[in-house]
Formats: sequence, structure tokens, C-alpha cells
Amino acid sequence: THKTRVFSGIQPSGGLTLGNYLGALKRFSEAQDQGIETVYCIVDLHAITVWQDPATLRHATRELAAGFIAAGVDPARSILFNQSQVSAHAELAWIFNCVARMGWLNRMTQFKDKAGKNRENASVGLFAYPNLMAADIMAYHATHVPVGEDQKQHLELARDIAIKFNNDFGVNFFPVVEPMIEGPATRVMSLRDGTKKMSKSDPSDQSRINLTDDADAIAQKIRKAKTDAEPLPTTLEGLEGRPEARNLVNIFAALSDSTPAGVLEEFAGQGFGTFKPVLADLAVARLGPINAEMTRLLQDPAEIDRILGQGAERADAIARPIIEQAYDIVGL
Ligand code: ADP
Ligand code: NA
Repeated sequence: THKTRVFSGIQPSGGLTLGNYLGALKRFSEAQDQGIETVYCIVDLHAITVWQDPATLRHATRELAAGFIAAGVDPARSILFNQSQVSAHAELAWIFNCVARMGWLNRMTQFKDKAGKNRENASVGLFAYPNLMAADIMAYHATHVPVGEDQKQHLELARDIAIKFNNDFGVNFFPVVEPMIEGPATRVMSLRDGTKKMSKSDPSDQSRINLTDDADAIAQKIRKAKTDAEPLPTTLEGLEGRPEARNLVNIFAALSDSTPAGVLEEFAGQGFGTFKPVLADLAVARLGPINAEMTRLLQDPAEIDRILGQGAERADAIARPIIEQAYDIVGL
């Protein structure tokens, strides 16, 4: 019985990839264009769970805001803001730190990946990150969260937190959020290794397409992407055991608003010598205007700050009454 409201966030941890675009940003603007209420957040409090240089972080926040807008998020129709400007996120995260169990967080694979071997030296914030993410969502009573597949486990934790909070206090206060992990590009893979996800933290720049790459760089990275020597098959089953081929087909499908099966219908029997140049042209045609718009927006940082300030006021107007009710339920 909660009203449909979409929430999602991205960290300003430097650089946006084609994976962020297809798995997140593109879908954010699609939800907005369907007329659903959409709330999008630059999650800078998440970014500082690992070391950030302050000046670099400030720039990355503006760059990410420009990325959202260039990818089609319209600050007039969506609420677009910066997490640290709305205190409800940190306040609700503390309550959730007291709801979530150590055992739940101990199972989070992203913490294990990010902390690596040096677990004892990871920040407490990195460990508690999923509680803050749950607070981000629930501070708006959001019902749906568009994300890539890598966030699935965190969303399950958010659901567990909502259920436990509601049970512990005998209320039906927080909606149990539905993940929206849909479409052909929920997990865009590295261009160098089809078994690893495309990520800004991959040491090889050849493994990813950055939204700031120019046309030559995009075309060159696709031309050099790892593939096999087989032609494209007629059916999806023919892509089994061929992760690199499957990834390029998925990317093509997402960029052309088609499906992997639709792409194979068009290219079955063709080799990568034919397929890659068409994919490169498509990627340049789609990403070029986004890159140009980001560059244009970044020429006026004060305007970006103004947009984020207005977004924060609108976000706070929704979140403030919710956090006040949460305090009241808890007895604070
Ligand atoms: P990153 O994973 O690049 O560090 P975030 O953790 O801030 O960035 O993720 C931002 C959004 O982009 C999330 O919804 C995440 O699921 C999505 N995302 C990140 N990488 C990929 C990928 N390779 N394929 C699809 N979606 C992705
Ligand atoms: Na991620």
C-alpha cells in the first residue's frame, strides 16, 4: 500500500563506465520518463568508506551530477541531490546499524572483495555500508530500486532490515523494497576478460569504456575487445561458454533498445570483424552526445551546485517527516 517511488544512487568515486550507464543511469532516465516518481542520489557518504582526496571528491560529485543529467535525468522531473546534504541518510543509517545483525553483514561479498586480505584495516564504514544503503532507500519509503546485479545482495539485506524493523516495533512502516534488475545489461563485463565485471577500479583502462572517452578511444577499445574466432550464432544457446561474445551482444542490445535474441537475428553467421565496427559506431553515436553534454555542464560548476541544492531541499522535504516518525517509533 506504499506509493510507487523509485530510488537509486551512485558513488562519486571517480569516472563513470559503460556498465554504470547501461546498468544504472540509462534505466534511471527510463523510469523517470514513465512518469514514476524518481529520487536519485550522489552517494558521497558511501564514497568516503574508502580514502578520498577532498578536492578530488568535490570534483567527482559535480562530474557525476553532470553524468546523471547528460544521461537523461531531468532535475525538474526527478529529484537529484547529494547524500551528505540531507541528514536523514546518516540518521536512519544509525538506527539501522542497531537493527542489522553482525552475521548479516559478515555475509556481504562486496565487503570481502573491497576489503581484500587487509580486512582488519578496512574502515568500519565499509563494513556498515549496506546499512547506509538501506537507509538511503528507506528514508524515502522507496518501493523500487533500479541497480545492476552486483547490488542484489545489498538489496536483500535492505529487505531484511525493513522486515526486522517492522517486526521488532510491531509496525508496517518501511516498505519491503523490490529490486529492479532487468534488461540485457544488468552485468556488463570487462572487455578484456568476460568473467569479470566492467569496473572503474579495474587497473586496465582497456577493460572498460568510460563516459569521458572520445570516439576514437571507444572504437579502439571495442575493436581490441577480447573475443573468440567463431561467428555469431543464431540462438542464445549458441553463446553459452562464450562470455566475451555474450557480453558484446548484450551491450549491443542495451545500446539499441533491443534484446540479445533480436541482435542475433540480425547478425547470425557474421564474424566479429563485421560485428565490432557496427557496435563501435552504435556506441559512439549513443555515448558521444552524453560526453559532450557532460563537458558543457561542467563548465558551470555553480549551476551544478545550485541544481544539487534545490534537489536536496526537495529530498529533505520527503525524508524529514519519515525520519521523525522513525524516531518516534523507536522511542527517541
Ligand atoms: P561502481 O560499481 O562502478 O564502483 P557504484 O557501486 O556506485 O559504481 O554503482 C553504481 C551503479 O552502477 C549500481 O547500480 C551498479 O549496480 C551499477 N553497475 C556498476 N558496474 C556495473 C556493470 N559492470 N554492469 C551493470 N551495472 C553496473
Ligand atoms: Na558497485
